[in-house]
Amino acid sequence: SASTCVSIAVLGASGDLAKKKTYPALFKLFEKSFLPKDVIIIGYARSAMTNESLRDQLRGYLKGKKEEVDAFLQLCIYVAGQYKLSPAEEGAPPKDFQVLANTIAEFEATFPGDCGKNRLFYLALPPVVYPPVCEGIKKCCMSPYGWSRVVVEKPFGKDLASSEDLNEQICGLFDEKQLYRIDHYLGKEIVQNLMVMRFANTFISPLWNRDNISNIQIIFKEPFGTEGRGGYFDQYGIIRDVIQNHLLQVMALVAMERPATLSPNDMRDEKLKVLKCISPLSTENTVLGQYTMGKNGQPGYLEDDTVPPGSKCPTFAMVVLYVQNERWDGVPFILKAGKALNEHKMEVRVQLKDVAGELFHSIDKPGVAGSTGYNVRNEFVMRVQPDPSIYMKMTVKEPGMQLGITQSELELQYNSKYGEIPIPDAYERLILDCLNGDQQHFVRRDELVEAWKIFTPILHYIDAGGITPEHYPYGSRGPALADKLRERVGHITSITAADITWDED
Ligand code: BG6
Repeated sequence: SASTCVSIAVLGASGDLAKKKTYPALFKLFEKSFLPKDVIIIGYARSAMTNESLRDQLRGYLKGKKEEVDAFLQLCIYVAGQYKLSPAEEGAPPKDFQVLANTIAEFEATFPGDCGKNRLFYLALPPVVYPPVCEGIKKCCMSPYGWSRVVVEKPFGKDLASSEDLNEQICGLFDEKQLYRIDHYLGKEIVQNLMVMRFANTFISPLWNRDNISNIQIIFKEPFGTEGRGGYFDQYGIIRDVIQNHLLQVMALVAMERPATLSPNDMRDEKLKVLKCISPLSTENTVLGQYTMGKNGQPGYLEDDTVPPGSKCPTFAMVVLYVQNERWDGVPFILKAGKALNEHKMEVRVQLKDVAGELFHSIDKPGVAGSTGYNVRNEFVMRVQPDPSIYMKMTVKEPGMQLGITQSELELQYNSKYGEIPIPDAYERLILDCLNGDQQHFVRRDELVEAWKIFTPILHYIDAGGITPEHYPYGSRGPALADKLRERVGHITSITAADITWDED
């Protein structure tokens, strides 16, 4: 019978992303026997390096038993090459990609037969070199006897025009079926659970609309600043870095209609439909922030040496989006993201409307933490990280003689419930999807177009200096204006013990 083998080329092998994410994910897949038996992993980058020096570089990033790490590293080899031709070579065959192709062919030649010789190209590279690299792959490296797939990372453009320009160039070379645009948030456990929770529970489906839901927050908080990554970050800012992609994708999964089937395109059709119903973000629904020195002396954004002096780049943003369809009209989706905040957290919080009528209005609020009386709303919280959990904040009778009211949780904590099942890293899962040819958790071109349409007008306005970010100290909750915006659109704050994942000082 014909054998199959896979060659995985990691382009940008000596970069941060490859070392911190791509290789460790490949290693985990190898460790769990998810990689095909006959596989080679070819690192490709500009620096002169031997196989051994690549392996030495990678070793520190791979966590596992030494024998396993060594066995994995035996599969990793290195090819040095340029990403683009020099002006003098313009028009000539891209010879470095020919070297890569020859290396792959040599490996494939060790397997008999002509079918199932598959090739995965992972571009852990900045998008400026996508076009020449894709061209090199297309000209020299496509598999004659199997599939060829190309994985690209964000940032996929800076606005609608640049993103479409990139798409034009790349989609001219490959079919959409061959292109995997990674948004690693789509590989996270709780994000993948959204579909199941929403569409497999009869008690959730009827509540999931404007009749019952007051507002939905999608929150991303990081307790660290740009720390040396300022050169990259300053060209993008928090909206492009996190909101336009990760948070919007999560929002699409929260808001979309039930797909006809689980096929990747039916799923993505629904995401696309809901994205089309979101109006472009307006200035009055946007609050921006930039962090300054923290109270423990943590450096402010402008004190990062890699950040250009006087930059007005936002490191925090709260934006309110509306979905103009029958299900969601009038319900604010509050997307908040910030660097250098007080905690590390990503969650979706669905806040339901107030209970109608005044039955409990006369009851004293007992002096118990978390009890704020009748205006406490139900909330359905899906915490993506840290400590994945899902909980419903419910109002109950305070135990005891009197009729008091308190809030409690119906809670599913992954650690305690599923402790023994390790949750795979997002990249691990997504690379496996690529190997299996499953595009469900990858962003289609038309989705990307709609995502950019929502944010492009405001991004241009911000880039032109239209909004000056509010300052907030490193380690704080972010600018106070954000809380005002959230209140204005109808959010009511109620914090109970389950909401607190940190010790606030
Ligand atoms: C990346 C952003 O896409 O996502 C980073 O560029 C951010 O700025 C990161 O820190 C967050 O990912 P995670 O998986 O650590 O939450």
